[in-house]
Amino acid sequence: MNAQALAPNASTEAAQQESLLSPRFYTTDFKALEKLDLSPVREAWDRMMDEYRSDGNVDHFKRDATFEEELQELPEPLRSEFIDFMITSVTSEYSGCELYQEIEKRVNHPDLKELMAFMARDEARHAGFINRALKDFGVAVDLGFLKREKKHTFFKPKFIFYATYLSEKIGYARYITIYRHLEKHPEKRFHPIYRWFLRWCNDEFRHGESFALIMRANPGLLSGLNRLWIRFFLLAVYSTMFVRDHSRTVLHDALGIDVDEYDYTVFDITTEISRQVFPLTLDTDAPKFRVGLSRLVEISKAVERSQEAGGLFGPLYRLGLRARGALTFVQLYLHPVNENALPDDARMLPAW
Ligand SMILES: [Fe+2]
Ligand SMILES: [Fe+2]
Repeated sequence: MNAQALAPNASTEAAQQESLLSPRFYTTDFKALEKLDLSPVREAWDRMMDEYRSDGNVDHFKRDATFEEELQELPEPLRSEFIDFMITSVTSEYSGCELYQEIEKRVNHPDLKELMAFMARDEARHAGFINRALKDFGVAVDLGFLKREKKHTFFKPKFIFYATYLSEKIGYARYITIYRHLEKHPEKRFHPIYRWFLRWCNDEFRHGESFALIMRANPGLLSGLNRLWIRFFLLAVYSTMFVRDHSRTVLHDALGIDVDEYDYTVFDITTEISRQVFPLTLDTDAPKFRVGLSRLVEISKAVERSQEAGGLFGPLYRLGLRARGALTFVQLYLHPVNENALPDDARMLPAW
């Protein structure tokens, strides 16, 4: 076999890249997970597991004839931005799949084992469906290669819970917001995959519910110093999404979506849902908070421009920009938050 045959293709390389904004692969302390107590939420848990077992989306992630009929050539730079969006999506779907599979394999906790098998099943379908769509463009990601080669970040179980809970719920909010928008403006649906988002987002919603129940069963995760961590994860997830979305202007223009409006709608939905579990919410409506997020976008764009321009003093300039970015993040972190009293019922209904 020659070297070229062993080398990953460009989209696999793109998916493998490590940056502040790229989806990560995680590993955790599997032993600590064995001790997880779910007895305080047993009834809600059992109901949720019945939903997983009934597998409402078993037939959903299959392409039908309309998929092929609606496929069209995309002009540049829309094609590149859409592919970039799909590569980020397949990476994060697959990173979830891989983490859940790994937990399922490594723990003996019967409830956790069963849950992880169901969630890995769902994420494998999601990742496979996106990758099949990437294949139409001739740029499918080699998921096996990613699993072997991508750096895994170690997170304590509680950080896995905060991060995955949020990424599942924000994933739900993103899918449903785009779906509802395209329902009103079907002429903007330039790719058939968007028609799959409605039933897809129900999976993400339920995945988020699973982590909400785990955290509600262990209230120590939601109080004391852990409040500071929750605040950190909320801001990290929100600001990453905001900066990344603002780098894909052509994609959002094609969908007829105003990125600011879209992102703040997604924040509103996610914040509303997160009241089921988090003792605080970010005040994303505050003008000062919004100024901070916009500044992060400007800084990120300036870094990108400087990288493209090169030049002797480029690295120094970018160091300064990154310091400003870090300072802005700290200012956003220190922005006052809203307190939230947890509801009696840990389960939430979909927001839309
Ligand atoms: Fe998913
Ligand atoms: Fe998910």
